[in-house]
Amino acid sequence: MCTNEKEPMDELEQLEIELLLEALYRYYGVDFRNYVMPTIRRRVWNRIRTERLRTISGLQEKVLHDRQAFNRLANDFSINVTEMFRDPSFFKTFRDKVVPQLKDYPRIRIWHAGCSTGEEAYSMAMLLHEEGLLEKTRIYATDMNEAVIEEAKLGSFPLDRLASYSHNYAQSGGRKSIKEYVSVTSGRAEFRPFLGEKITFAQHNLAVDESFNEFHVIICRNVMIYFNSYLQNRVHELFYESLSPSGFLGLGHKESITFTSFTDCYKEMEANEKLYRKVK
Ligand SMILES: C[S@@+](CC[C@H](N)C(=O)[O-])C[C@H]1O[C@@H](n2cnc3c(N)ncnc32)[C@H](O)[C@@H]1O
Repeated sequence: MCTNEKEPMDELEQLEIELLLEALYRYYGVDFRNYVMPTIRRRVWNRIRTERLRTISGLQEKVLHDRQAFNRLANDFSINVTEMFRDPSFFKTFRDKVVPQLKDYPRIRIWHAGCSTGEEAYSMAMLLHEEGLLEKTRIYATDMNEAVIEEAKLGSFPLDRLASYSHNYAQSGGRKSIKEYVSVTSGRAEFRPFLGEKITFAQHNLAVDESFNEFHVIICRNVMIYFNSYLQNRVHELFYESLSPSGFLGLGHKESITFTSFTDCYKEMEANEKLYRKVK
C-alpha cells in the first residue's frame, strides 16, 4: 500500500501508524505516541520510501528487527533544526527583561530542554558572559537524541553558518563580534572552552523522564510544537515542578502556555516573545 500523504488520513492508516508507535514504545522504550500526527505521518512515509518499502507494517517489521533502521526512523522523528540566537528578538527580550532580574541571584541554574546540537545553549552562555552573569551560572542542556548531544559536546559548527549566526547575534543585542567567541579550525568554528565549561549536556526525554533539579530559567523552544496537547500538558507539569518560585519560562514563537492547565500560573513578560514568569 503506497499512499499519498497529502490526502486525508483514513482510519486504517491511522491505526497502522499508532501500532508502529506502540511497537517502538514497547520494544525500544521510546515514546512518540503523543507527537502530532501530520509530522509523524510525513516522516513515516519518507522513511518508507527511503528504505524502499511499501507499507507501514513493512516499516514496522523492519525497524523491530533492524536496530539501525530503528535509529534512522527515530532520527527522522527528532527534528534537529537549530541555529544560534534563533529568533533574535527572543534573546533581545531575555537580555532586556530577564537579565536585570537575574543580577541579584547568588547562583543561576538554566535548563535548555530539547537543545539539539547546542547552539541555543552556547548562545545563552555568550549572552550571560556579556552581562557578567556566566561565572555564577550553570546551564543544563538536554535532548532525547543521543547523537545530537554528542555533537553538542564537541562545541563546534560548520564555518559556512558563521555569517548568519553573526547576523542573529547582532540582532539579539550582542555587544561584540561573534568571532571573539570561536576559533576557526579546518572548516569549523569551535566555541571557546570557557563557554562549554559552563554547560552540562545530557540525554533527557521529556516524554518519559522526570525532573532532575530546580531551575531559575527553563527554555524549551520549538520542541512542544511537535507534541499533542496531552504531552504538552505533561511537559508543562514537569517544567512547573522544576521552576523555582518566580522562575522564568521561555517557549518558541509558535508555542504557548495558553490552553494548557498552567496558564494561570504564569504572567506573560512581553507579548509575542513567549517569555513567562511563574507567579503561583
Ligand atoms: C527543532 S529542534 C529545536 C532546537 C532548539 N531548541 C531551537 O529552538 O533551535 C527540536 C529538538 O527537540 C528534541 N526533542 C524532540 N522530542 C523530544 C523529547 N521527547 N524530549 C527531549 N527532546 C526532544 C529533538 O531531538 C530536537 O533536537
